[in-house]
Amino acid sequence: MSIKIQIINGPNLNLLGKREPDIYGHLTLDQIKLEVEKHASKKNISINFYQSNIEGEIVNKIQEISDSMDGLIINAAAFTHTSVAILDALSIIKIPKIEIHISNIFAREEFRHKSMISKAVNGVICGFGLNSYILAVDAVESILKK
Ligand code: DQA
Repeated sequence: MSIKIQIINGPNLNLLGKREPDIYGHLTLDQIKLEVEKHASKKNISINFYQSNIEGEIVNKIQEISDSMDGLIINAAAFTHTSVAILDALSIIKIPKIEIHISNIFAREEFRHKSMISKAVNGVICGFGLNSYILAVDAVESILKK
């Protein structure tokens, strides 16, 4: 049976490609989606890709996937640094969860060094651009295969 992974993207990631390309690169979110799907399909992994600028919609999506997915990858973007609601939603679901960031948040402003959501995930991958997504797919797979 194939592995199903939900990927959730938070606010302003819909503007990738145009948004601060010196930090986030030139790929659009659609291009990232395609690259991640290409990588995943070689491993018989299917990807559900979602983006919202609204905190409550992200909470709803986490609640909705519950046990219907085998793993979750989340780039909560700015909500990473503020959202107890997303932390609480993540704490409820018991599938492998990976927090990712395109940029190295520890090499940036101090307010980005703190993640509210890390406590509820298996691991964090940041600073690898598109590869943060790809590495997270491999991380979920390796947790599931253990
Ligand atoms: C980000 C890092 C966050 O600090 C920022 O607010 C984002 C994107 C990243 O992918 O590097 O919007 O999550």
